[in-house]
Amino acid sequence: MNNSSNDDFELRDKISLLVNAFVDTHTLSKEAFLVKILNSAFELIPEAEKGSIYIESNGYYRPICAKGYNMELLSKLYFSKDDLFIGFECKELSEIQSYQNYISRRNDCQFTPDNIETFKQLGTYEHFTTLYAPLLYDHTLIGLISLERFIDEPYSVASQEILRFYAQSISSYYTLKVKHDLKKKLFDETVMALVTAIEIKDSYTVGHARRVMLYSEWIATALQLPAVQLEQIKIAALLHDVGKLGISDEILNKPGKLTEEEYEQIKKHPEKSKRILENISDFNEIVTLAYMHHEHYDGCGYPQGLEKDDVPIGAHVIQVADAYDAMTSERSYRKALTHKQAIEILQDQRGRQFHPDVVTAAIAIFEVMINFDTKIQKS
Ligand SMILES: [Fe+2]
Ligand SMILES: [Fe+2]
Repeated sequence: MNNSSNDDFELRDKISLLVNAFVDTHTLSKEAFLVKILNSAFELIPEAEKGSIYIESNGYYRPICAKGYNMELLSKLYFSKDDLFIGFECKELSEIQSYQNYISRRNDCQFTPDNIETFKQLGTYEHFTTLYAPLLYDHTLIGLISLERFIDEPYSVASQEILRFYAQSISSYYTLKVKHDLKKKLFDETVMALVTAIEIKDSYTVGHARRVMLYSEWIATALQLPAVQLEQIKIAALLHDVGKLGISDEILNKPGKLTEEEYEQIKKHPEKSKRILENISDFNEIVTLAYMHHEHYDGCGYPQGLEKDDVPIGAHVIQVADAYDAMTSERSYRKALTHKQAIEILQDQRGRQFHPDVVTAAIAIFEVMINFDTKIQKS
């Protein structure tokens, strides 16, 4: 192999390592993401012996993860944003550079005595080379990645370039990730605010939405539905009765049996759930599931009287979960049914009110989970 194909091979290797560093990191917490990123840095820059990532918090840079260092000891280090010895000035990804510094001996005047003592214990007081680069979050400096080697030889030019590019990639990905996590948190909190609103409005159903979500998750998992569908079912299960916010308090909280007219009012809640949820963008599937959670397999349900596969499987799942929870919950006008009695009704209505495959999956999984989780068993 000649030199140029060797270089090509090495470059391909580095690019694949760089890409792999970010694979499957979307599900990780911020901290776990930074740990993975730091570990991958050692594959990209094999000269590095030890390293750490610092993140700014409340005006101080503190190590958040490390490789090769005693983390307990390293955690004693902190640098104020103002006395940060590095003095980065960058706001754009393209401005991120890597810096190499041979430290023959730390300048005692630049650091607190505590930090100097910690440097000595860590072995980073003198005679080492550090290669570091800033990390940005949305045009703001938030930290740095630093890699140390303890032999008297500089990092190669290629490694300096790789760290520069790597720090740009980390900054870009970290920004997207943190923004996505914030959006997800806001979304989850909004969903739970709506669930709480239903529970305040309809005092009989405290915990109902959360249990329906849990049972729906079990059933959907037993049916081996794809992950995306499972997530949609869980959210729709939590919000299926949100339309009850539009039903009068007198009817919802009536202590006795409902009159026919009152029942007709209650039956409007799927339509109202649809009207509330369709205001949320990208909620199409979830709206449909919530809207159809009272449709029966045999077409005798409401609001449209749809049957069989005209109703998505997710709505059939929520229907069984909803019915099971309603049956095993106490109401002012009746006692809760036992788990066994509820299962008998599911069996009896298999292929009539309920989708047969969903009942089969529900009974199988309930037998396992209800026995396993006695906290959920109500009878
Ligand atoms: Fe409902
Ligand atoms: Fe319900």
